[in-house]
Amino acid sequence: MYLNNIRPRRNRKNHAMRSLMRETILTVDDLIMPLFIVEGKDQIIPVDSMPGISRFSRDLIVKEVKELWNLGVKCVSLFPALDDSIKDRLATESKNPNGLLQKTIKDIKDACPDMLIMTDVAMDPYSSDGHDGIVCEKTGEILNDETLDILSAMALSQAQAGSDIIGPSDMMDGRVGHIRETLDSEGFHKTQIMSYTAKYASAFYGPFRDALDSAPKAGDKKTYQMDPANLTEALREIELDEAEGADILMVKPGISYLDVIAKMKERTNLPVAAYNVSGEYAMVKAAAEKGWIDGEAVSLEMLTSFKRAGCDMILTYFAKECAINFAKN
Ligand code: PBG
Repeated sequence: MYLNNIRPRRNRKNHAMRSLMRETILTVDDLIMPLFIVEGKDQIIPVDSMPGISRFSRDLIVKEVKELWNLGVKCVSLFPALDDSIKDRLATESKNPNGLLQKTIKDIKDACPDMLIMTDVAMDPYSSDGHDGIVCEKTGEILNDETLDILSAMALSQAQAGSDIIGPSDMMDGRVGHIRETLDSEGFHKTQIMSYTAKYASAFYGPFRDALDSAPKAGDKKTYQMDPANLTEALREIELDEAEGADILMVKPGISYLDVIAKMKERTNLPVAAYNVSGEYAMVKAAAEKGWIDGEAVSLEMLTSFKRAGCDMILTYFAKECAINFAKN
């Protein structure tokens, strides 16, 4: 008789045993909640392509942030949705000390001083062209070095308003070093940089661009965001971001890029983050609404897989739901 004496199933036999065996544990400490903000008062404007996610006016975002803090979420990432009338070629509004983002950072810090605030650095929410860098008026090219001063001014303005973590999401060459130098020269050596190190030119950002009305007016982002087919190129970006002074490296999107996350974790001694982006969120929500999948279980499985791949932290629109879920159990 065949002696079947090696039995992995012993280690899975019941809930208690599985708890003991669990290698990866997702907690609320791992999660960063992205939030969309709008001008006005008493506004909660749902994002159609992201069920459960809305744009909040300043008065209401403070309430939302307090609620998140009480649920154990310790970091939020803020994205302003601006009226087209204040967008221009050079993203001038991005450095306005009285801009929507800057005012919101101050409101949140007044009301909930321990909540960490992360802010995005890229021109697109402020740009009439919908690009992350300056568009050359003659050729349509995205100008790299000319954009760096704008990004640094934006980062400085966010740091001055009270942002804890600057997140350059623009993928211009040299931006991390340029921003670091600007922050340091102005006395903001404590302000962190979480670099979007490997940010891919992905089709998963659609719902986010709906939320901010920030889609490119012409062309695409392929001359600055990475080709989804490439991994070695991500390793090169790691080296550059480390040398330029990043504090945390990020991969974006997440779920189709777990190999990039795993490789990044292997290659760096810096903390690694992933951005579970809008399209990934929308797919789960849409299928769950149809009753085709269990949305809650799928989202937890996805987020656990980020941690298994090596992530130290995850930006995810599921953060609040997860936190509510964890608080229940
Ligand atoms: C801005 C930015 C984008 C996202 C985060 N920062 C969009 C883009 O690059 O077009 C996408 C986030 C998401 O899809 O959830 N540069």
